[in-house]
Amino acid sequence: MDETRGRITRDGIRIYEDGDFAGMAAAGRVAAEILDAVAAQVRPGCTTEALDDFITAEVERRGVISATIGYKGYRHASCISVNHVVCHGIPGAKIPGRSSSSVLEGDILNIDVTVIVDGWFGDSSRMYIAGTPKPFALRLIQVTHDALMKGIEAVRPGATFGDIGHAIQAHVEAHRMSVVRDFCGHGLGRVFHAPPNVLHYGRPGSGAVLEEGMFFTIEPMVNLGRPETKVLADDWTAITRDKSLSAQFEHSVGVTATGAQIFTLSPAGLFHPTWGQAA
Ligand code: MF3
Ligand code: CO
Ligand code: CO
Repeated sequence: MDETRGRITRDGIRIYEDGDFAGMAAAGRVAAEILDAVAAQVRPGCTTEALDDFITAEVERRGVISATIGYKGYRHASCISVNHVVCHGIPGAKIPGRSSSSVLEGDILNIDVTVIVDGWFGDSSRMYIAGTPKPFALRLIQVTHDALMKGIEAVRPGATFGDIGHAIQAHVEAHRMSVVRDFCGHGLGRVFHAPPNVLHYGRPGSGAVLEEGMFFTIEPMVNLGRPETKVLADDWTAITRDKSLSAQFEHSVGVTATGAQIFTLSPAGLFHPTWGQAA
């Protein structure tokens, strides 16, 4: 093992060792399997509470730990963010603008799950569609998904975090949508949230330099309208200030010698909500 591994960079970012990739891959796979399993549960009429109950059962069935239950007082195994909710939507709470937690035809949902497997954290989120989406909602989802993948394509040793942010921002803004500034990705590994803050906007060449052995999430939130958000009185739910529709996708990745290893790939090929569906 090269002696530069298992250290902390001057930017405070941990460099993991070769053997640690297997731990992250196992944790990421469990998160992805749970996100695969919940896909069939999302339909008009379901409640966010029932979806979270399903996820809790999936976590327990696999004998792993939810990283979000008990995290800063959060009490659920998932965040479920519907339509203009940007992130951290609380399952079972009234969907903002509605009198219940029931999902309706045409809703778009982000479901975000983080599990701990043998001490390693796997953090991923995807979009789901209840029934038939409006064309503009589908376009938002597609652009957000592609922005994440373009961010991941920028990952390699020697690139910078600004290169990742720039790749995401350029794609989003080329489609006249906006990148949320108020939330970011994060380092993770044997902890949930660690340096660096992974911004989803930026200038090429700016920010810390990526090195082999870094583990972090990329999790862009994209709005159809303006980027500003506001957190509701529950202290969690973040919505778009202009009530425009918002989407998010999140992968946990590791920097390899030549690029990125995505730890949270969907075993069932369901990462994008329209994949795996009969045409
Ligand atoms: N999984 C989220 C993330 O991507 C964090 C959720 S924290 C919670 O970082 F407490 F809201 F669940
Ligand atoms: Co995350
Ligand atoms: Co997450």
